[in-house]
Amino acid sequence: MAGFVAIVLAAGLGTRMKSRIPKVMHEICGRPMVSYVLDAVEAAGAKRIIVVVGHGADLVKQAVGARGECVLQAEQLGTGHAVMQVEGALGDYGGTVAVIAGDAAFLAGDDLTVLVAGHQESGAAATVLSAALDDPTGYGRIIRGAQGEIVRIVEEKDASPTEAAVNEVNSSIYCFSAPRLFEALHHIAPDNTQGEYYLTDVIGIMIQRGLPVRVVRASDPLSARGINTRVQLAEAERIFRDRVRERLMLSGVTLVDPPSTFIDANVAVGRDTVILPFTFLQGKTIIGEGCTIGPFVRMVDTTVADGASVSNAVVMQSTIGPGATVGPYSFLRPGTVLEERAKVGTFVEVKKSIIGKGSKVPHQTYLGDATVGEGVNIGAGTITCNYDGWQKNPTVIENDVFIGSNSNLVAPVKIGRGAYVAAGSTITRDVPEGALGIARGLQREIPDWVKRRLERRQKAEGHGGHSSNESGGKQRDE
Ligand code: UD1
Ligand code: MG
Repeated sequence: MAGFVAIVLAAGLGTRMKSRIPKVMHEICGRPMVSYVLDAVEAAGAKRIIVVVGHGADLVKQAVGARGECVLQAEQLGTGHAVMQVEGALGDYGGTVAVIAGDAAFLAGDDLTVLVAGHQESGAAATVLSAALDDPTGYGRIIRGAQGEIVRIVEEKDASPTEAAVNEVNSSIYCFSAPRLFEALHHIAPDNTQGEYYLTDVIGIMIQRGLPVRVVRASDPLSARGINTRVQLAEAERIFRDRVRERLMLSGVTLVDPPSTFIDANVAVGRDTVILPFTFLQGKTIIGEGCTIGPFVRMVDTTVADGASVSNAVVMQSTIGPGATVGPYSFLRPGTVLEERAKVGTFVEVKKSIIGKGSKVPHQTYLGDATVGEGVNIGAGTITCNYDGWQKNPTVIENDVFIGSNSNLVAPVKIGRGAYVAAGSTITRDVPEGALGIARGLQREIPDWVKRRLERRQKAEGHGGHSSNESGGKQRDE
């Protein structure tokens, strides 16, 4: 193959999405639509990738990153106008360009490779990838002549009833000879229902000039689909999710109930990990081998090491160490690190904290901005008071500390190695290594308080029976 330059059209607003963000930035399995098109052109070996950006250009540029060059289409006057913006960047390039709509997320690299190779072998000026769809609504139609030869492409809004009845559609995936493309583009006009410069018009122009134009039917009509509405977006999501699930299962991951397991495209899961129902693994989440995840887990941009288990939890931007356990009903917020075999249990919230090797936070606790060493036990109801209304302050809990239940640790504060904090303490000063920190009201016992209280009550209610037993003296209300 002689190589090719890819032009990806990603400047449109996507009016039919009814959205404030550009259409190509809408996500499928956690990745923007345009990134799938970039996958395909990269896989097909494009030697240069040029992305036309316009609406929401900064967002789209960010998504493209180093994967392609961006060219601005300041005003979005149509797909033909979008391609015209690339003419300068291409200079005197005389080879093949593949033009692909940024919403053609179903295009696979292999399909593009075949399309480009066929185009180059044929020596055609243009090759259009078409598909026969049961429902061609919304697509441009391939109009053929008496001999079955392509005559032009007509957009649905400009089509006569006979033309609209055609079910062979334009995929918006094409190959062109670059010089022929730009020559023809100079002759298109916005004389159509939408008042736009249509890229599709170059096909008719080339044919009129006697240039060879080919139409290649996609072997799988799915690869020709565009995504224009949120209904089509949801359909794409469903199809891509199925692919992700299938790929993971075939690689050795058990999905107990695939339809209720939602895994983003960039998530990696190791062998023999079991994913239980109602689990969402999102963003750049990476899960090791032999883990149990779910039921009811939502995990975002989180790394989980081998043998860990997480159930009924929300976990954001965190790291879970080997053999660690989380849940049920835990919330790990960004910056949480659980080291090997650490345990975070029921109704525990952790934010930006490190929990050391083998340390346990089993119940009803909030830890924020805390560094917890190894072998620590945090009693039920422990709260790090990390916020003073102004800034967040750190709590340091050294190795082998025992924090008694229902303790408040008012940060900044440090509990030294092996120290104990008595249950119910509000700790406002550092506790030295090996010491007991106790900070609570002291207990006293009032003998016979219950009996005396009962007697007082009976007296007040007029049961004189036992009044002779009373001392007669004034009783203090304890
Ligand atoms: C387009 C084709 C149609 C084809 C369909 C396949 C035209 C005129 N129509 O229609 O024949 O059947 O794709 O999915 O080409 N864009 C720009 N700048 C613009 C306008 C659009 O960069 O000024 C980009 C959009 O961001 C989008 C792509 O071009 O990624 C296609 O635009 P879209 O509005 O989706 O075209 P369709 O109406 O789907
Ligand atoms: Mg489209």
